[in-house]
Amino acid sequence: MNFQFTEEHLNVQQAARDFAQTELLPGVIERDEHQKFPMEQVKKLGELGFLGMMVDPKYGGSGMDTISYVLAMEEFSKVDASASVVVSVNNSLVCWGLETFGNEEQKQKYLVPMASGKCWGAFLLSEPEAGSDATSQRTTAEDKGDYYLLNGTKNWITNGNTAEYYLVIAQTDVEKKHKGINAFIVEKNWPGVTVGKKEDKMGIRGSDTHSIMFTDVKVPKENRIGEDGFGFKFAMKTLAGGRIGIASQALGIASGAYELALAYSKQRKAFGTEIMNHQAIQFKLADMATNIEAARLLCLKAAYLKDTHGDYALVSSMAKLYASQVAMDTTVEAVQIHGGYGFVKEYHVERLMRDAKITQIYEGTSEVQKIVISREILK
Ligand code: CAA
Repeated sequence: MNFQFTEEHLNVQQAARDFAQTELLPGVIERDEHQKFPMEQVKKLGELGFLGMMVDPKYGGSGMDTISYVLAMEEFSKVDASASVVVSVNNSLVCWGLETFGNEEQKQKYLVPMASGKCWGAFLLSEPEAGSDATSQRTTAEDKGDYYLLNGTKNWITNGNTAEYYLVIAQTDVEKKHKGINAFIVEKNWPGVTVGKKEDKMGIRGSDTHSIMFTDVKVPKENRIGEDGFGFKFAMKTLAGGRIGIASQALGIASGAYELALAYSKQRKAFGTEIMNHQAIQFKLADMATNIEAARLLCLKAAYLKDTHGDYALVSSMAKLYASQVAMDTTVEAVQIHGGYGFVKEYHVERLMRDAKITQIYEGTSEVQKIVISREILK
């Protein structure tokens, strides 16, 4: 395994770092406070090719590898996890799923605009009663010959209102359990699609999270992805890559908080010296730096396995499980190092602490990651 980044990797990392400082940082506190979606910023990310990073250029993507994606996700997430989740969902769940399992017509019609950043998508799996237990889908897609009739409700959908296209997981044959599940491309503007109110969240408050309701939505047969009954496997395979994105987001939240704490410890004085000279602070910084480096290596290993066509589901779950715990631990300690200042909004670390929590919940809770990991190591 090569631990050296290529020049291209370093260029992508620098471009993402510059974007985060110049475009994401201004206004991030206000967007969080007012739950304002970073529309202008996400459009620019699309123009720069960050919404279809790994997609083949012939479908409008940037043709980069997963290592570049991890590096970019870390940089965006250091500053604004509400923007970086759009990058993660569109790249990993939407574009990757369509490019890998969609047919040529589906790719031309839906992948090209989303990979080229003209618009973006959402991934609709979770339901009021099917979160971790993803096989218990209540949304139904009844086969009516040349179309499916879609009915049901999806919950906590990232990009729910701003996405143009949805990848929807639904049950077509209850008797067949997970083998009767299918995945469909649904256009947000079709009759019968209703977007519920925006969720008022603890963290990633700028991100656009909604319930989506389907009432007798006619989905043409040609919008089913893959063979009949492929939907659950489609979701699991797609999520295995998605977890690399969320692990990298958690990594970025952790390293953003660490960098702020490190800088603060060099300028804040207490007991006659900068607080970095106190062992109590040094030990915290040492733990943070070590944990972040370990999380980064897991993210990069998962990305390396994906790029080299290895089996990455195990390591991507390990990366997400570990990096999200590191994000929680690091952000809590970053607030502690800042003392009273850490508890107020202008120092950023309290927001990072609130943002960290979702990385232990979405794209599979930490408990789901442990199910995936234990099944792999016990089989
Ligand atoms: N690749 C291919 N196939 C897979 C797979 C993978 N990674 N994982 C499972 N499968 C297959 C299994 O082989 C099995 O197929 P067969 O019956 O043919 O053998 C089938 O899928 C069912 O698998 P399980 O028996 O393991 O299913 P389960 O009911 O026990 O569930 C689970 C396993 C891991 C808990 C799964 O339900 C899961 O991942 N749940 C969490 C769902 C999730 O992550 N939701 C996130 C929503 S999306 C989101 O958050 C996006 C966002 O907005 C940011």
